[in-house]
Amino acid sequence: MGQVQFISPRIGGDWSILCRSHQPISLLKMARIFNVPLPVHCQQGICGTCAVQVTPQQGIRHGHLSPVEKRTLRAVGKVSCIDEGDDLVQWKGPRWRLACQCMVETSDQFFVAF
Ligand code: FES
Repeated sequence: MGQVQFISPRIGGDWSILCRSHQPISLLKMARIFNVPLPVHCQQGICGTCAVQVTPQQGIRHGHLSPVEKRTLRAVGKVSCIDEGDDLVQWKGPRWRLACQCMVETSDQFFVAF
């Protein structure tokens, strides 16, 4: 079961919600299902409005940023040097992702800050 805890100080002070899904789902879709008010605009990985900081809750996982997501994160100043190289580089987070492009697999557990 994919599990995400959204955390945001931007909405009524410290605020968090725990969301669970039994199927792969984008962070944005998960946020909408659970009424998490993530900022969003294009929903296509182009504008960067939905940039969030993702931290895996357990161990290390591989990051898979598409060329579009990398380009947008770079354009809005969110790409770190680790994101510039091999897509299969291991990471512990936090790492900037686009909520509309980041898939939560059933074995994933993330903290997501926005
Ligand atoms: S909403 Fe525009 S990049 Fe995700």
